[in-house]
Amino acid sequence: MLSKKMLKELNIQIMYEMFSAYYYLSMAAYLDDLNLAGFANFFKIQYKEEVDHAMKFYNYIYEQGGNVKLQAIDQPKTEFKSPEEIFKLSWEHEQFVTSRIYILMDLAKKEKDYSTESFLKWFVDEQVEEESNMKGLLDKVKLVGKNGNGLLMIDMELTKRVYSPPVASE
Ligand code: FEO
Repeated sequence: MLSKKMLKELNIQIMYEMFSAYYYLSMAAYLDDLNLAGFANFFKIQYKEEVDHAMKFYNYIYEQGGNVKLQAIDQPKTEFKSPEEIFKLSWEHEQFVTSRIYILMDLAKKEKDYSTESFLKWFVDEQVEEESNMKGLLDKVKLVGKNGNGLLMIDMELTKRVYSPPVASE
């Protein structure tokens, strides 16, 4: 059973995860405009993973007998300066999402809501990976700077990323 406050925050989190999906899809569109298909592929997969994150919250709310109330999603930024800016913004965005997960975790602990605390642990670990991926790619893109060959090499590497749907237990 979820408290009213927890239910509200979990519903807000669905919105943030869906916003993340939309934000990354907007980045993918910019990268497709630049014909950087590998970079675009990376963000299209990121988009799918964010929808999966939103659905985890959605399913959890119903498992706990709550009701999902979808919120409005802001329009994401659509103009970007460079792949470097994209990774900088993504890294900052993931830090923001981490701070949201911590707010939820703090609330679960305060309310002694052990089920939600356990559910959120997956997201605490996932955020470590999400931040690290974005920061790692930001560092690589910074390293190559305006070197076209370097960027194309990273682009090629990013074509290899494949989407793995969540397994039933996740
Ligand atoms: Fe759902 Fe990238 O955090």
